Amino acid sequence: MEIDLNFKTLEWKENRLILLDQTKLPEKTDYIDCQNLTEVASAIKELKVRGAPAIGIAAAYGVVLGMRDIRHNKREEFQKHLTLVIETLKNTRPTAVNLFWALKRMERAAKRSFEKFPERTSRTLLDQALRIHQEDKDMCQKIGEYGAELLKDNFTVLTHCNAGALATGGIGTALGIIYTAWAQGKRIKVFVDETRPVLQGARLTTWELKQQGIPHTLICDNTAAWVMKKKDVDCVIVGADRVAKNLDLANKIGTYNLAVLAKYHNIPFFVAAPSSTLDGSIQSGEEIEIEQRSKAEVTLWWGKKTAPESTEVFSPAFDVTPKELVTSIITDKGIHKGKRID
Ligand code: MRU
Repeated sequence: MEIDLNFKTLEWKENRLILLDQTKLPEKTDYIDCQNLTEVASAIKELKVRGAPAIGIAAAYGVVLGMRDIRHNKREEFQKHLTLVIETLKNTRPTAVNLFWALKRMERAAKRSFEKFPERTSRTLLDQALRIHQEDKDMCQKIGEYGAELLKDNFTVLTHCNAGALATGGIGTALGIIYTAWAQGKRIKVFVDETRPVLQGARLTTWELKQQGIPHTLICDNTAAWVMKKKDVDCVIVGADRVAKNLDLANKIGTYNLAVLAKYHNIPFFVAAPSSTLDGSIQSGEEIEIEQRSKAEVTLWWGKKTAPESTEVFSPAFDVTPKELVTSIITDKGIHKGKRID
């Protein structure tokens, strides 16, 4: 089922990476033009492009830009430069495994190409980045189809952060499921958590849902328990930044709260994630590095002071939801029924 989107989160065009600047939404639809590695790395760090799959795709194009003017013939020089490019991108955001997954693929492609056809390395890297982008689009489509089976007509869904088209190369994961069910003719209503501190729910998810014409209501994060009690929420669907082998998962801070609340209210808690978000190298959520965000995101709200200057702040960007609280994980391979991923 084809879902129409009238914006492009990321696009490779005329040898540049064009990004929809998500820090400007919903006020302005501004596109930025990344022409080099530094610009891509900064865009990821500053959340101009965000969401686990989109970060991975942007980083892949970042490698293309970082490597394109390299004319080294010597293996050591090539390797040195490649390491610098990969490390620069790795050091942007630590939690979403999609970033490391995409960089590993790009690094492998670069090394293989340099050994066999050094003069074609730039083209090989671009092909690999375009493939990563297209694969993500396809995985979103599949997640949408599998996940839509779980949504019945007249369902009310609660979601957190933005796991939509803005966070991926396709229609999104959690929102992709809602879009697909809606396109199948099911009447769906959505409660959107505003998602403090940087409001991905309020600024981005509502913006996307509005364009699809899907009825939605924005709530402050601290309203979720009351909405579950009073408003007949049928299920919660969120995305993920990293899923461990035992199915613990990291997602936007506040996801764990929702999972606990859903358990208490007996509401199914679904997680939507592409294969690129599954990290088979870690046993449990204990091993996930959680990004810490700046104090200013909490004490300065879009330029307005919301706490005294010297206030101490704890601002993790993500939390880890233990597997016991998750009803099912929906991936591009289906609705995961097992107890582990292998
Ligand atoms: O800090 P962000 O905005 O990059 O965090 C995004 C999320 O937590 C998403 O839920 C997750 O990346 C899944 S996106 C399909």
